Amino acid sequence: MIDIARTGAEVRDFRRRLAAQGKTLALVPTMGFLHEGHLSLFREARKRADVCAASLFVNPTQFGPSEDLARYPRDEAGDFAKMEAEGVSLVFAPDADEIYPAGEETRVEVERLSDRLCGRSRPGHFRGVATVVLKLFNLFQPEVAVFGEKDFQQLMVIRRMARDLFLDVEIVGAPLIREADGLALSSRNSYLSAEDRQRALGLSRALKAMRDAVQSGENDTAALRSIGSQILSEHGLVEDYLAIVDEQTLDPVDRLGAGPTRALIAAHCAGVRLIDNAPLGR
Ligand code: PAJ
Repeated sequence: MIDIARTGAEVRDFRRRLAAQGKTLALVPTMGFLHEGHLSLFREARKRADVCAASLFVNPTQFGPSEDLARYPRDEAGDFAKMEAEGVSLVFAPDADEIYPAGEETRVEVERLSDRLCGRSRPGHFRGVATVVLKLFNLFQPEVAVFGEKDFQQLMVIRRMARDLFLDVEIVGAPLIREADGLALSSRNSYLSAEDRQRALGLSRALKAMRDAVQSGENDTAALRSIGSQILSEHGLVEDYLAIVDEQTLDPVDRLGAGPTRALIAAHCAGVRLIDNAPLGR
């Protein structure tokens, strides 16, 4: 049976018991409404440590005032069952005031990496992410934490935070999981009608077209971006950004060739904000 913790104190007890048994811990933070992408992280976590724990918390500080916090999809019982089936030993599913009790006022800011891409259209988003993830790390003190490349900028922000604050945790990035037709799995896909879901394929198709163009020898990123943008607009998607960046710094790149580069897209599909990304090679 999976253990369910509602308080930080219960998480600390769990951690102390593991330490007494000499067992290592891998943590997978989530906001729930789990799909195969999340499940792949639990599997990766179980390979990396003796015990896998998860959190299920729709973190209010990473949502803007006009975003979907109130209607974010939830299925706590279903999520607990999926976690249990994947061998997650304990899930921490706190109320918001357990994480943000009255009077708390500390925030974590990863400055440069948070100001661009998703951070530009979602001011304060990564401050909320970094803050909650650091709180979770401090409660769980995991040896390993696993995050998906689906949220590539988030992964980079967390890696940076871990280095900058000398956190004793290994940050593992896991591959982006897609549907058979290419759509990146996301809890937010549940907002899409069947018709909108077809249009949402524009994101992965744009990435595919850019990768194909790179294979055919194109290395000018302005040309690659216009190939991608064209496909987004053909699908009736409203582009938020389409960027080609250095994987480490997330700085824009003019020509492929130096280090590893990645294309990242955010686009609105019938009012739903979707993201996707892929390596561009070279
Ligand atoms: P959430 O969107 O629930 O995602 C939890 C984890 O699952 C993240 O590491 C995310 O990158 C990963 N994930 C989501 N879709 C994926 C996919 N298709 N393939 C692979 N991994 C995928 O990201 C968050 O929650 C929150 O910001 C959180 C880190 C929990 C902090 O609140």
